[in-house]
Amino acid sequence: MDLEKVTDQITKVLVTGEQIDSRVAEMAAELDSKYDGKDVLLVGVLKGAVMFMADLSRAMQIPVTMDWMAVSSYGSGTQSSGVVRILKDLDADVLGRHVLIVEDIIDSGLTLSWLISNLKARGAASVEIAALLRKPDAAKVEVDVLLVGFDIPNEFVVGYGLDYAERYRSLRGVAVLAPSVYS
Ligand code: IMP
Ligand code: MG
Repeated sequence: MDLEKVTDQITKVLVTGEQIDSRVAEMAAELDSKYDGKDVLLVGVLKGAVMFMADLSRAMQIPVTMDWMAVSSYGSGTQSSGVVRILKDLDADVLGRHVLIVEDIIDSGLTLSWLISNLKARGAASVEIAALLRKPDAAKVEVDVLLVGFDIPNEFVVGYGLDYAERYRSLRGVAVLAPSVYS
């Protein structure tokens, strides 16, 4: 769905679909050279990373395999607590493999820092992160990220996989949700 269809529900467009396309192409090229000749497993974090994973993997020119995890961080309301529960685990064994976590957004960083230690503990040869978005002002823990698409302000955003109550994931771009929608 195009962002124009929800003009009344958003306050600001942060990243258009076209901007995502060109940034994803750049990121894919960097990953091609970094992982050339290596056995790389892309691990997408459900559900937010579905769009990014689909576009990033297709823009890459080296062979990759893909797997998925679903995690939830316990906590009140919209705040991540850092206590993470696995809702769906990987099918693949990561032992000795180069893992690239593909994530929609780094907010507090708590989910990802937990995920990195979890995958390293399983014996992955390396664990890196490619995130489409990052909110630098929301960081509670520093996460060492290989690639970030866009740094954005500390506001609640939707689109391109990101939801509010499961809505807006299919928007082509990323926008700030109007407070009237959730109040
Ligand atoms: P954190 O980095 O542990 O705080 O959690 C990141 C997760 O929270 C992301 O994977 C998203 O699923 C969700 N999230 C964080 N910020 C937003 C937002 O602005 N819109 C939608 N989901 C968000
Ligand atoms: Mg997510």
